[in-house]
Amino acid sequence: MYWKWKTIIEPFKIKCVEPLGFTTRVEREAALRKGGYNMFNVPSDKVLIDLLTDSGTSAMSSEQWAGIMRGDEAYAGARSFYVFENSVRELTGCREVIPVHQGRAAERILFSIIGGKGKTFLSNSHFDTTRANIEVTGAEAVDLPAPGALEFEKYGDFKGDMDLRALESRLKSKAAGVPLVLMTVTNNSLGGQPVSMRNLRETSELCRAFKVPFFLDCARFAENAWFIKRREKGYANRPVADIAREMFSFAQGCMMSAKKDALVNMGGFLAMNDADLARRCREALIIGEGFSTYGGLAGRDLEAIAIGLREVLDEEYLRYRIRSIEYLGDGLRKAGVPFVEPPGGHGIYVDAKRLLPHIPPHEYPAQALVCELYLAGGIRAVEIGSLMFGKHRDGLFEPAPMELVRLAVPRRVYTQSHIDFVVEVFAEIVQRSRSIRGLKLIEASEHLSHFTAKLAPAE
Ligand code: F0G
Repeated sequence: MYWKWKTIIEPFKIKCVEPLGFTTRVEREAALRKGGYNMFNVPSDKVLIDLLTDSGTSAMSSEQWAGIMRGDEAYAGARSFYVFENSVRELTGCREVIPVHQGRAAERILFSIIGGKGKTFLSNSHFDTTRANIEVTGAEAVDLPAPGALEFEKYGDFKGDMDLRALESRLKSKAAGVPLVLMTVTNNSLGGQPVSMRNLRETSELCRAFKVPFFLDCARFAENAWFIKRREKGYANRPVADIAREMFSFAQGCMMSAKKDALVNMGGFLAMNDADLARRCREALIIGEGFSTYGGLAGRDLEAIAIGLREVLDEEYLRYRIRSIEYLGDGLRKAGVPFVEPPGGHGIYVDAKRLLPHIPPHEYPAQALVCELYLAGGIRAVEIGSLMFGKHRDGLFEPAPMELVRLAVPRRVYTQSHIDFVVEVFAEIVQRSRSIRGLKLIEASEHLSHFTAKLAPAE
């Protein structure tokens, strides 16, 4: 529909509601202390606005709920599997479609087969579970983000791109040790920034020249496609569904956490054209996930994914989705909150290094801001900084290159007034940011430590 108004409205009406978790400051202080200053340990009914993740937190449509009722729960060859397979094939163009219970199951299956000691995986940026699933096989995961991706203040249309020069030089020196090049769309670790069609095409050309397979980590493919439509020359008048299919046409396969752009609460898939690799993946699937026509999901989940993959390409939805993140960005910018510019597809990444320059990296400035947001307004966000990516080597602390707080916005869940509230809380925090204190790490595991770490206020 042609839209002449300034206000971008939520393109849905609400059929079912769920109460928010209102708490007192005293209750939040207790919850935070009990949870070791780690928001993963705070119960969700003590959270008012939950921006921890956009993963598995979408509100499903009435059509998807109808699909849930249609789900065929047969162990093998369920009708719902074929509905799912068709929907994934239509989008990705891949013949072999393997359902999994979520994205990291696809990662574990694929990398356990093609990973191993001495291998190197190259990506615009690996998501943290992707990196972990590569590293546990003994292989190495190398990020090659485009120049400028870490200059957070600077605007760029496609800051999610791969650094093609770095990719070429890596492939020149040792293509034989690279089992796969992976493009994450959008680039979650670096601000939810999109990858251009041009960069996808050129990456695929390089991979073809060096005979290295090229895969997409396509958790947020539709948001990426919308950015291409709005920002890349030649795509303004193309239907976003066509743009998405063109993105997939450059890859030999893909992995998806359906918990994002498939608008469901659980699910994922691996898809590819290589029948032999698919056969090996299915063997691993049956051992760890389930039979090849359900892979750790219920038949009803497969139906909901099949519908979500089409619904997410609705242009009214995508216009609203991307605009609502920009709206949060507009409010924060006005309040003087520094963040990764421009706003990403699924959230805003606040730059805690600039907001809290008085807190050194070993006192986790981004996590300190996460805790302050919760204490002040019951808002839950996630740290993408030294708690997530910092390393302890030989008693020395190596901080992450960035200290970000991600405000990930669940799909179709919150309305404009919820976002206005988040901006108001930030505006208040900015006024007294100098009084926010750092944290010290008390306990952490070796892999993916941010999920389980325990912290306490620094002295
Ligand atoms: N790839 C990307 C780009 C992701 O963002 C995620 C998950 C995964 C893979 C793994 O998928 O959770 O279904 O196993 N991201 C979530 C987040 C957890 O909060 O960004 P999963």
